Amino acid sequence: MPQSSYLRLGVNVDHVATLRNARGGAFPDPVRAALLAIEAGADGITAHLREDRRHIRDEDMARLRREISKPLNFEMAATDDMVAIALDTRPHACCLVPEKRSERTTEGGLDVIGGHDHLRIITAELLKAGVRVSLFIEPTLEAVRASRSIGAPVIELHTGAWCDSLTHHQSERAARELVRIKAAAVLASGQGLECHAGHGLDFATAKIVAGLPEIVELNIGHFLIGEAVFIGLKAAIAKMRAAMDEGRAKAK
Ligand code: PXP
Repeated sequence: MPQSSYLRLGVNVDHVATLRNARGGAFPDPVRAALLAIEAGADGITAHLREDRRHIRDEDMARLRREISKPLNFEMAATDDMVAIALDTRPHACCLVPEKRSERTTEGGLDVIGGHDHLRIITAELLKAGVRVSLFIEPTLEAVRASRSIGAPVIELHTGAWCDSLTHHQSERAARELVRIKAAAVLASGQGLECHAGHGLDFATAKIVAGLPEIVELNIGHFLIGEAVFIGLKAAIAKMRAAMDEGRAKAK
């Protein structure tokens, strides 16, 4: 897989829907946020239809598919119900993620070893329908190898533990986590997998990950929507784009 000098930005609009659902009305509208994000330079839109529909709802996903001009990345659990919706929606891509009802957000990567056979069937079904599949995994060599054997062309490395260690000023843990991310990205790219990364990224961490040339796409949501409260969504995305470009310029 050739390494790309351009790093794509996928903007996750889940938390616009979180805000909307807090009041049960129609605004703020996640589709409007997606259209604005594209105007501001997003290369794609990500949305996670959770089983409990706590933020994005079926109708949001359908509207995103109809109304946005850039690729839609449909995040979902690897269940038959979700596969049926994805096959109906036909997004550009599906990102398979683990899902627990009690979690606040996607807490870990997929169990690509224990769930290997199940994930292989679902991946094949989606690929056959022309939907690109990515697996959201922990940044470990074992998980990268298992993903390849599952047959997914893309992996997304979970950067949450690394970002969390930085938030809590755990510098040694952060250094270890970043080494894991780098090693997983190098192995993935060497094995012909397209490598993405995401979860918990902000301006500073996105700039660092942008320095890893094997990674060709970042998916970022919560921080951008939070930052939009202060500086507006377009400005937040423009600032993220600039941070990513700056980090990418230093990529070796
Ligand atoms: N990538 C995946 C697979 C995710 O599950 C999430 C969270 O929904 C993100 C990226 C974005 O994470 P955050 O909202 O922390 O930027």
